[in-house]
Amino acid sequence: MNLFDLKNKKILVTGGTRGLGNKIAEGFLEAGAHVVIVGSSIKAIDTALNFKNKGFKCDAVYGNLGKKEELERVFQEAIEKLGGIDVLVNAHGITKRYDPIEFPVEAFEEIININLTSVFMLSQLAARIMKENGYGKIINIASMNSFFGGQTVCAYSSSKGGVMQLTKSFSNDLFKYGINVNAIAPGYMATDMTKAIQDNETRNKEILERIPAGRWGTGDDLKGCAIFLASHASDYLGGAIIPVDGGFLAK
Ligand SMILES: NC(=O)c1ccc[n+]([C@@H]2O[C@H](COP(=O)([O-])OP(=O)(O)OC[C@H]3O[C@@H](n4cnc5c(N)ncnc54)[C@H](O)[C@@H]3O)[C@@H](O)[C@H]2O)c1
Repeated sequence: MNLFDLKNKKILVTGGTRGLGNKIAEGFLEAGAHVVIVGSSIKAIDTALNFKNKGFKCDAVYGNLGKKEELERVFQEAIEKLGGIDVLVNAHGITKRYDPIEFPVEAFEEIININLTSVFMLSQLAARIMKENGYGKIINIASMNSFFGGQTVCAYSSSKGGVMQLTKSFSNDLFKYGINVNAIAPGYMATDMTKAIQDNETRNKEILERIPAGRWGTGDDLKGCAIFLASHASDYLGGAIIPVDGGFLAK
């Protein structure tokens, strides 16, 4: 048996239209899986079409995961397109930056809702099906801010601390059903989300000095860990928060 085999696995990847989720989805497609990508806009359809044109098995659904009813619809449509689910990857997310004294409570609630509550809801919906199958993998995307507080991102850090604890908590209760729940904690990755700090000369320098790999990460750097967590190779792993960070956390 090829421990890392993902051929014909049914995988749902949120945030699959761009950034890290897009590259994670690409890694699964390259490994032979059927992937449904979820995006917040109609662009998700084009992204899936581009993958399809390259010969991959890819479909798309779009909607706002911050709205309960839309999340349920999106999940249902994705399950119908996949014909079930083996792997769920929660790779969507947002951030907003304010000094904590000025942070609008509406923005705080929005970030917690999109980054944490929707991860809980999607994981719960997927786990119900996985429990029936006696098998499944849930992969959350945590962050360095699951461990650190960061600056001007109190809502984001709170949400990602929550994602880490949600991962551990779900793992404790779901392992007995054959469901592995783990998280990847990416380091500093060059995507749209981090553009503000990439463009800030002082912060960029500080960050680079602390990354033993000597460079920002990319979505491609996450493919290997995601394939590991989605495949039988990780069957004895639960509640792990794996840093893929060019060595940042250890420094
Ligand atoms: N870039 C980094 O350095 C970094 C580091 C650690 C963790 N992360 C996490 O990785 C994940 C992906 O981040 P990224 O850097 O690729 O960001 P990105 O901004 O490039 O992509 C975010 C994705 O989330 C989707 N999304 C956002 N809000 C949504 C909503 N309400 N409904 C549906 N989809 C929604 C967007 O459509 C987009 O596809 C996020 O959870 C982020 O917190 C990023």
